[in-house]
Amino acid sequence: MAKIVGGITTSHVPAIGRAIAQNLQQDPYWKPFFDGFPPVQKWLDEVKPDVAIVIYNDHGLNFFLDKLPTFAVGAAAQYHNADEGWGIPTLPPFTGDAALSWQLINSLVADEFDITSCQEMLVDHAFSLPLKLLWPEHDSPPLRTIPVCINTVQYPLPSAARCYKLGEAIARAVTSWPEELKVVVIGSGGLSHQLDGERAGFINKAFDLQFMDSLTAAPKWATQYRNEELVEQTGTQGVELLMWLTTRAALPGEVVELHRNYHIPISNTAAGMMLFECR
Ligand code: DHB
Ligand code: FE
Repeated sequence: MAKIVGGITTSHVPAIGRAIAQNLQQDPYWKPFFDGFPPVQKWLDEVKPDVAIVIYNDHGLNFFLDKLPTFAVGAAAQYHNADEGWGIPTLPPFTGDAALSWQLINSLVADEFDITSCQEMLVDHAFSLPLKLLWPEHDSPPLRTIPVCINTVQYPLPSAARCYKLGEAIARAVTSWPEELKVVVIGSGGLSHQLDGERAGFINKAFDLQFMDSLTAAPKWATQYRNEELVEQTGTQGVELLMWLTTRAALPGEVVELHRNYHIPISNTAAGMMLFECR
């Protein structure tokens, strides 16, 4: 049977792509951020997952305001990255796993999640950069990938409680798949940040740290909040932490936190990262 081996959550900021392209990992501005990743890279090298389910929010590359699904799952053999206008290098295509994608889609729909299935899907910085951070030696990571998109761009957004249930449904879909596969779940977004409006630059370290603690000690803690409350606490784009919550909910059984990092700021964003192992 397929097994979920662990989860990794990380922030995504386009400027990370530029820092990687310019080899700035040891630069004083970037070092505290990049130093968070080697322990996770080592864990991945030991565990060697076959598939990564990447839970992220598209920022207007694949979906735009005219058509914006609440939940979307990729079902392609390959996913292409494309220029979003940030001036960062475009990465080569990512390999998909169409069979496991259709298992996810079939199982999620049977589980009452009305998702959009995408047989063509462009993946943006929120998908590509975490993979580049986790497998820095590879432009295209050495495993198959499945994009899972959650709308955090145009209201109404799915609630934290709904995202938690989606994560649990993802776990049911994977663990009922008969193929012998090791699956890692990657959540990309957050933590607190606001890119626009009067509170542009807003960061809430106290809330971020409480949220990170909750993912280990009481994973459902954030489901008490409405999205408007999450925006108040973490900024308009801080609501991307829903990707972390969904990822944590997708980890079945006993879950152990192996590593974390938190650094303020990277660009406008509180950059966090956590590694969880399923025992
Ligand atoms: C930034 C953060 C994001 O989450 C994003 O998608 C784009 C930009 C930033 O802080 O620059
Ligand atoms: Fe973002």
